[in-house]
Amino acid sequence: MPWLKWLFDAWRLPVGSHATLDIGCSYGWMAAAMSVAGAATSIGTDIRRPNHDAFRSTFPASTAVLAMADMFKWCYAPDRFAFISIRNNSAFCMAPQLDEKFVELGRNVRRSLTQGGLAYLSFLTNFSGMRSDDGFTNLPLADIIDYLHRTGLHIVKMMKLGGATAFLLCRPEDAAHFDGLQRTITHGQRFHALREYVEARVDGAVPAPRILRNLFLAAADMASEIALRWHICERATVCLFGRGILTYYVWRIMTVLYPHIPVGGFVVETNDEPSVLHVVTDEEAGRIWGDNVLSIYLDTKHWVDVALGAATSSAPPCDLMFTSGDFGPTLPSGEPSMHGVPTSGETFTFHYCSGDHDVEVPPIIAGAYLTGLLRNLQEPCHEDAAAFEERFFTTFPSGFEGV
Ligand SMILES: C[S@@+](CC[C@H](N)C(=O)[O-])C[C@H]1O[C@@H](n2cnc3c(N)ncnc32)[C@H](O)[C@@H]1O
Repeated sequence: MPWLKWLFDAWRLPVGSHATLDIGCSYGWMAAAMSVAGAATSIGTDIRRPNHDAFRSTFPASTAVLAMADMFKWCYAPDRFAFISIRNNSAFCMAPQLDEKFVELGRNVRRSLTQGGLAYLSFLTNFSGMRSDDGFTNLPLADIIDYLHRTGLHIVKMMKLGGATAFLLCRPEDAAHFDGLQRTITHGQRFHALREYVEARVDGAVPAPRILRNLFLAAADMASEIALRWHICERATVCLFGRGILTYYVWRIMTVLYPHIPVGGFVVETNDEPSVLHVVTDEEAGRIWGDNVLSIYLDTKHWVDVALGAATSSAPPCDLMFTSGDFGPTLPSGEPSMHGVPTSGETFTFHYCSGDHDVEVPPIIAGAYLTGLLRNLQEPCHEDAAAFEERFFTTFPSGFEGV
C-alpha cells in the first residue's frame, strides 16, 4: 500500500477522478491496497470467480469491487483508468510467445488509460528463453520489448530484481510527460540513495542495513535502465566508465541480471589497485568507445565529492550518464518525498526497483549479488554485510571469475 501511494503521488496519477484496475487480481489484495492508497474507484478482475464475502471480511477498510473477466476477452472501458496493473501474471510467464491475443490485450490497456495514466506489467522471467521445471517460458527481454512496441504502449521504465521483471507503460501521446517525470523521480531517488551511502562512509560509520539496501536497489535500477536502453538502441556492447566502486557494482549486477548482454571494454581509473577491470585513462576511454557501443558514465566519486563539499567531477561524452553535476548538490532540501527527495526529518526510502519484491531485499542479498555469492535463498549466505562493506568501498576486487 505505501508503495502504491508513493507511485500514485510521484507519477501524479489522476486516481481521484479516474478508476484504477487490477487485471488478474486473484483474491483482491492489490485492488484493496489501491483503494486504501487513495484510488476513488478501485476495480479488480480475474478469470476466476471472486469470493466477495472473504474479500469484505479480509479488507474491511477497502471500497474496491471485484469482478470476473477473462482479460483476453473482456474489453475495458476506453479513456477511463488512471492506473492499470497486470501483476505477476501467470498467462505471461507461461506463454511460449506473446502472440496476437496478448497484443490485443495490450492495445486494450492502451485504449483504456486516461490522459496521464500509467500501466504496470510484471511477470517472472529469467530472460533465458528456456522453459523451466515450473512451466515458465522465461521470455527473452528482446521479445518482451518487441511485444510492447506492437501494442503501441510506450515504455517509461523497466525494473528488474531477482526473478521479477516489471514495466511502467503509458499511451504514446503521454510519452514526453512521463519521460520528463521519469528523469526527475529516478535521478532524485538514486541521488539520495547513493549520497546516503557515501555520506555514511565519509563519516567513518558502517552504513545501516537500510542504506546498503538502498545502494543495491539504486545500482540494480541503473542496470535495468542500461539493459533497456541497450535493447532499444540495438548496440553490440555496453561499455561502463567511472571512477568509483559503483561502476563495479553495476557491472556485477548487469552480469547477474542480464547475462546475455556483453559488457565489453569495461574501463575504470583506480589508484594502482589490483583490479579485475581494464584500467584506462579518460582519453583512452574516449577512443575505446566505438559506434556500436552504448557508452555509460557512472561516477561514485561525484557523490564523494558532494559529501565532502568538494567540486564535482566532469564526465566524458557518452550515451547515458548516471552522475550529473547540475542536479544533486542544488536539490532543495524541502522538496516533497514524492519526487524521491526526503522532506526534513523523514527517513529516506528508495522506492524504485521492481516494486514487486524490493521491500523484502535484505542487505545480505546485496552483498551476495555483488560478490558473486549468489545462491539459493533457502541457504545461509556466508557474506556478512559489514565485512562486505569494509572490503568493497574503496578497493576494486581482483581475480574475479564470474558466477
Ligand atoms: C500468480 S497470480 C497473481 C495474482 C495477483 N495479481 C498478485 O500479484 O498476487 C496470477 C493471476 O492471473 C489470473 N489470470 C490468469 N489468466 C487470466 C486471464 N486470462 N484473465 C484474467 N485473469 C487471469 C489468475 O487467475 C491468477 O489469479
